[in-house]
Amino acid sequence: MNPEVCLTCEDVERFLGEDESRVHALRGVSLTLEAGTVHSVVGPSGCGKSTLLYILGLLDTPDAGCITIKSEAVLHLPDDQLARKRNELLGFIFQFHFLLEDFSAQENVMIPMRRLGKLPEKEMLDRAAMLLDAVGLESKRTRPSRHLSGGEQQRVAIARALANDPEVILADEPTGNLDTENSYRAFELLQRIVQDGGKALLLVTHNPQIAELCDWVHEMKDGVIVNTHARA
Ligand SMILES: Nc1ncnc2c1ncn2[C@@H]1O[C@H](COP(=O)(O)OP(=O)(O)O)[C@@H](O)[C@H]1O
Ligand SMILES: [Mg+2]
Repeated sequence: MNPEVCLTCEDVERFLGEDESRVHALRGVSLTLEAGTVHSVVGPSGCGKSTLLYILGLLDTPDAGCITIKSEAVLHLPDDQLARKRNELLGFIFQFHFLLEDFSAQENVMIPMRRLGKLPEKEMLDRAAMLLDAVGLESKRTRPSRHLSGGEQQRVAIARALANDPEVILADEPTGNLDTENSYRAFELLQRIVQDGGKALLLVTHNPQIAELCDWVHEMKDGVIVNTHARA
């Protein structure tokens, strides 16, 4: 039996910029993310990694190609339904975490839950607490995020990405400004969540050691995946 497929993209193309500065940023990218698998995307600066993540995250629309989430084609959906898919099924972790710094860790984690509007206040609070426990921040739930260290803030961003229990986690250099120990910790946490919860993770990373811990490594160059290999 085929393992469950969380997300696919097929022959995705994207042009960015205008006139002379127009760039063919993605030139036919196809990927399949199965439940329980961790994928890394590596490649030189400017090869299209972030563009791909934004498109898979339904934050940008490709010029050609197809995306399915849980076997449903999504690109034709109207904006409000796309936003709902994004909120319900996808979690993002960006290199710069974009936390609201005057908000507590807990309030930051509750933002996506409020947007989705499915849970009553008490359950949102309980879930935020559970997620912050899972990232090792149980004692710092109510601290304003500007009073957390860089590593702690990135862990809040991870908890926030998991707020609505997404099927797919998209992470763009999530450990880019963490030290080595915190990078591994953050990665191991994500890996555990993916494996235990049958989710999929696509991780852009410049760290070759972390890339090689992933089940699949996709090498990008000039807007295409030039090589995919399984973990050694
Ligand atoms: N908004 C934009 N307008 C024009 N060109 C862009 C834009 N965003 C990215 N690009 C170009 O698209 C290419 C891919 O960029 P990006 O996906 O950010 O690469 P990476 O994340 O691999 O460094 C680069 O040539 C970049 O300069
Ligand atoms: Mg990038």
